[in-house]
Amino acid sequence: MMPASPLLPAGLPPVDPQSAAHSQLVENHLLECLTASPQGRLSFEEWMAQALYAPGLGYYAAGNTKFGADLPTGDFTTAPEMTPLFGQVLARQVAQILKMTGTNTVLEFGAGTGALAASLIPALQELGIDIRYQILEVSADLSARQAERLAPWAQSVEWLDTLPDAFEGCVVANEVLDAMPVTLFRWNEAGHLMELGVQARPEGSPPFEWEEQPANADLRSVIENRMPALPGYRSEVNLQAEAWVRQLGGWLKNGAALLIDYGFPQREYYHPQRLTGTLMCHFRHHSHDQPLVLAGIQDITAHVDFTAMADAALEGGLDVLGYTNQARFLLNAGLPSLLQAAMTGPQTSNMPAQLSAVQKLVSEAEMGELFKVLAVGRGVEPPLLGFIQGDRRGAL
Ligand SMILES: C[S@@+](CC[C@H](N)C(=O)[O-])C[C@H]1O[C@@H](n2cnc3c(N)ncnc32)[C@H](O)[C@@H]1O
Repeated sequence: MMPASPLLPAGLPPVDPQSAAHSQLVENHLLECLTASPQGRLSFEEWMAQALYAPGLGYYAAGNTKFGADLPTGDFTTAPEMTPLFGQVLARQVAQILKMTGTNTVLEFGAGTGALAASLIPALQELGIDIRYQILEVSADLSARQAERLAPWAQSVEWLDTLPDAFEGCVVANEVLDAMPVTLFRWNEAGHLMELGVQARPEGSPPFEWEEQPANADLRSVIENRMPALPGYRSEVNLQAEAWVRQLGGWLKNGAALLIDYGFPQREYYHPQRLTGTLMCHFRHHSHDQPLVLAGIQDITAHVDFTAMADAALEGGLDVLGYTNQARFLLNAGLPSLLQAAMTGPQTSNMPAQLSAVQKLVSEAEMGELFKVLAVGRGVEPPLLGFIQGDRRGAL
């Protein structure tokens, strides 16, 4: 079945008047995009790109809070927002890569509020590295927040507007691939592959509804290679993220990229029981599966198919250097000793909060197993520190 008409999911917290007014502006923008598009439809990928990134309007491009555990304004939180220990452990892996490549440059994609940089930079400096930290961020609002947060290290940080032609060093992207717009597909009851899109609905709120078209030959060939036809099955494919990783092979001349996100290998991604895919929305710490509501004021995200990312890296001429879950990566890279040092150090007053955050990062029931780390690169010889035990490249 096509997804049902979008309705506000039950149990969502009320939308404050300011957010409602902003969402109205985003809805108007999306309606204009629909009016201007051929046949009055947008593919879901185009619709998601506008809902998240339309300049000054989209969820990531406008000035809403987004990150953080604080209600009533935060929608979700990420590992570096939870504890600086995440960045401090990651620093050990980054330092090893910088040493192997003989460079001092880190390039972080999608740096959010700057939380990861604010823990990575001092941790790398403490390891004796004269760090040069670059950020490539698509949201002007978030770039401004990053500049404010990273003011203490202003000498070491610069923002890039475009991909470098050639890069040597370590690339980091935490929860960036999951925020790239996805293509939605469905095997209809006759076993034909359909691509889902969005059209204006004549009346009602929200003013959008689902529509579908037969998938074009390119999409069919991608999906038919990854799963059998399963009538009624709906899922997504992140062609933009795959293109991004493939492109990495063109400009990452010497070094490695650490791609950290929630997701799984392809077999699990397109498991016959995962009937409605992984697309999720986050609003004020409530998760639901209705992307067409709350336009511009909720996060929309999909899990990452790590097999597709590894294949894209190979197609781009990169090596796959390691793949494991977040818990194993953090334990391998030195979490126990850093935690021990934090517990005996001078600032033990917020230790209960730190311990609870670390528990979330490594617990199998929370982020420890669902989140994975994939390392790809060129000119770097494994084993990398974070994958010394429990490397699961064979599962991809
Ligand atoms: C879920 S947030 C994660 C933020 C941060 N990395 C963290 O862990 O807290 C996604 C981030 O990726 C950025 N982003 C999405 N697509 C991007 C792209 N193609 N290049 C650079 N940044 C991107 C968003 O603007 C946002 O900063």
